[in-house]
Amino acid sequence: EVETEITDYAFPFEGPFGSFDQMQLQRGLQVYTEICAACHGLELVAFRNLSDDGGPGLPDEQMRAYAEFYEVFDQSLFDGEGDFRPATPADHFPGSSLSSAPDLSLMAKARAGFHGPYGTGLNQLFKGMGGAEYIASLLTGYHEEPECALEGEPMDGFYNVAFAAGGFPASCIDDKGKHMVPGSWISMSQPLWGDDVDYADGAPTDIEAVSKDVAAFLMWTAEPKLVARKQAGLTGVLFLTVLSVLLYLTNKRLWAPHK
Ligand code: HEM
Repeated sequence: EVETEITDYAFPFEGPFGSFDQMQLQRGLQVYTEICAACHGLELVAFRNLSDDGGPGLPDEQMRAYAEFYEVFDQSLFDGEGDFRPATPADHFPGSSLSSAPDLSLMAKARAGFHGPYGTGLNQLFKGMGGAEYIASLLTGYHEEPECALEGEPMDGFYNVAFAAGGFPASCIDDKGKHMVPGSWISMSQPLWGDDVDYADGAPTDIEAVSKDVAAFLMWTAEPKLVARKQAGLTGVLFLTVLSVLLYLTNKRLWAPHK
């Protein structure tokens, strides 16, 4: 079994009252655009979504300007011959330009940061699924190759302590079959190093901050209705609480003559 190192980063959308931080989502969009989009796609997200309530909340003009910066191939142009045109709010982000890089639209829901212990899922109960924690930990999880790896055949890819699904050198597995170091080798080279972007709002740009910002943005793309879901849940719990009190009192009154 592969051990990984996932940090339980704090995000503003956690907990029953949590919601997305609009400025953080805008910063994450910037990181995505300037760095991740070179390889990854976001094909389930439409540009107009960038103006939706509860999301990055770009003003309409800014969202339109952002969309125009992309070109899409439109088959209906030139009498069906097709041609490129600037994207409109109805178009979607492009897919991955590097075929080995997965689309990131749903990645924050496709991966879990927390598991166990022993398959019980208790960590997820207490800490949440941890999709965003996983992404932030992956981006900050590049380390020098461990000593044991230098003894064997050189590995393809890059050593990452948060990545579970990659290659692993035989020289780092002990006699009992146990991995001597966490993580595995990923084919994505380290994309963030700190100070990768210039933020207009003056927020910190160290590697952890930038990683958390893009992880938060990817949580929003994967679950844009997270805030609405939490609010509906909270309303439901409140409603049921009031209902239980009323039913309790009703029950008391109905049975009072018979006791
Ligand atoms: C895989 C995020 C930049 C190439 C991944 C995965 C995530 C991710 C979450 C999936 C890991 C998994 O399967 O659990 C990001 C983010 C980026 C970024 C947030 C920007 C900050 C890039 C860039 C490239 C790239 C610039 C290309 C130069 C890849 C490739 C994989 C991958 C090839 C597949 C790795 C494998 O399965 O071994 N990335 N990435 N990524 N990424 Fe990125």
